[in-house]
Amino acid sequence: MTYRTLAKRALAARRHSHSPFSHFRVGAALLTRRGEVFTGCNIESSSFGLTMCAERTALFKAISEGRRSFKALAVATGDTDFTPPCGACRQLILDLAGDIDCILVRRGGSFKVVKMSDLLPQPFGSHHFSHSG
Ligand code: THU
Repeated sequence: MTYRTLAKRALAARRHSHSPFSHFRVGAALLTRRGEVFTGCNIESSSFGLTMCAERTALFKAISEGRRSFKALAVATGDTDFTPPCGACRQLILDLAGDIDCILVRRGGSFKVVKMSDLLPQPFGSHHFSHSG
């Protein structure tokens, strides 16, 4: 699958966004190494802190379906600028998917590709605690 197609899947997923409070609609499309796609959108709660980002929705869907190996994650918003994942999502994407390509999709569908390690340099990881007493 091309990154252009993955970007389109993220834009389409954005339509399902439940964002009555921020009105900021986000869609995500996660590509597995086998070529499957898991999509997600942001889902907001009246108790704001319970809100789920689009990226994490897509990741949790894929992980809960047994997928463990990923190639790229596209994130689409309606902004004229590229919108990168929030800090919490950066940590989770690196934890669960590793240093994959992140495809930032802006209004109109144009996109750019960045590595997750560029979005979150010097990340915390399980190796920081797994060998300590
Ligand atoms: N949001 C995402 O879905 N992904 C991000 O990486 C940044 C923020 C959502 C959460 C909330 O519903 C809205 O955008 C405004 O923060």
